[in-house]
Amino acid sequence: MKVMRLRKPGGLENLYLDEADAREPGPGEIQVRVHATTLNYHDYAVVAGMIPAAEGRIPMSDGAGVVTKVGAEVKDFAPGDQVISTFFPRWTGGDIHPSKREIVPGDSADGFAAEYHTAPIDAFTRAPQGYTHAEAASLTCAGLTAWRALVEEGKMRAGQTVLVQGTGGVSIFALQFAKMFGCRVIATSSSNDKLDRLRQMGADHLINYRETPEWGKKAFELTGAVDHVVEIGGAGTLEQSIAACRQGGHISLIGVLAGYKGEVPTALIMGKQIRLIGITVGSREHQQHMIDAIEVNGMKPVLDKSFALEELAEAFRYQESGKHFGKICVEF
Ligand SMILES: NC(=O)c1ccc[n+]([C@@H]2O[C@H](COP(=O)([O-])OP(=O)(O)OC[C@H]3O[C@@H](n4cnc5c(N)ncnc54)[C@H](OP(=O)(O)O)[C@@H]3O)[C@@H](O)[C@H]2O)c1
Repeated sequence: MKVMRLRKPGGLENLYLDEADAREPGPGEIQVRVHATTLNYHDYAVVAGMIPAAEGRIPMSDGAGVVTKVGAEVKDFAPGDQVISTFFPRWTGGDIHPSKREIVPGDSADGFAAEYHTAPIDAFTRAPQGYTHAEAASLTCAGLTAWRALVEEGKMRAGQTVLVQGTGGVSIFALQFAKMFGCRVIATSSSNDKLDRLRQMGADHLINYRETPEWGKKAFELTGAVDHVVEIGGAGTLEQSIAACRQGGHISLIGVLAGYKGEVPTALIMGKQIRLIGITVGSREHQQHMIDAIEVNGMKPVLDKSFALEELAEAFRYQESGKHFGKICVEF
């Protein structure tokens, strides 16, 4: 099979095409012919060398394809099933625990930039019916993170107001889930063209965060306070997110695009009685809930450009350009 690997110490120039043997599934395992993966900032951090990876690591956490073989004792999957990878194969459900996050494909273990992937059944769930492989792959990291933030932890309900930041994978899924639940959405972007596309997707209020540095205050004024913020900026955006929130509002701290460290506005958080939660993707059980909801509602992910497996470095260069809207795909 064809695989893409990463040489130490990382960097896009250190991605290379290689060949390997597909592994036969052992007891409790399935072998999957992978047809698509999609790019996340986390994958970029691995390939760019910001997260150290083992020599020759196969990157990418998202993977979707078709089951080709099942090992002994496998009852839940059969050859021909369309499946999606799980971000934490050992976090099947319940509360998170360090042992449940030891394996992350594409980071601490080989990932999905490979034509075949053989792993225990918990490394996969079924894919939503009618999804292409690229659509399915986009759910593993970005889709599940947005779902867990708003639904599993945020307990979002119809009629609430949700603020999403920028037009990356997580934020667009968050917009779609918020609309699916009958919520009002305020969306921000650095680009007025992208804001137009957000409007077409149903966003109710739009703010250019470059032109309006106090976008949190503006969001508060526009809506009379926000119930949920999907915080993908981190240190550089948190203060505005708090400004946007209502008393008792919920902020899901997900990303670091605007910095890793900063002052914590403790008095503001306390005064507004904000519920602030750190989110790292979600469990296999959360993924199954998300897939059930997607199927009932017919929601489809927003996909941007698609690349071939051997063009993986080019796909990451496109991500670096920031021109994308939704998910960048690799299909093979
Ligand atoms: N904790 C988790 O489980 C988890 C899971 C997935 C992702 N993440 C994190 O979430 C962040 C987004 O990931 P992604 O995969 O969705 O990234 P992505 O697809 O690469 O999204 C990048 C987009 O974010 C927007 N952005 C950048 N800086 C911003 C800022 N200061 N304020 C508002 N928007 C800004 C930009 O949108 P515009 O071009 O529209 O301005 C940009 O196009 C990353 O930090 C990533 O590490 C965390």
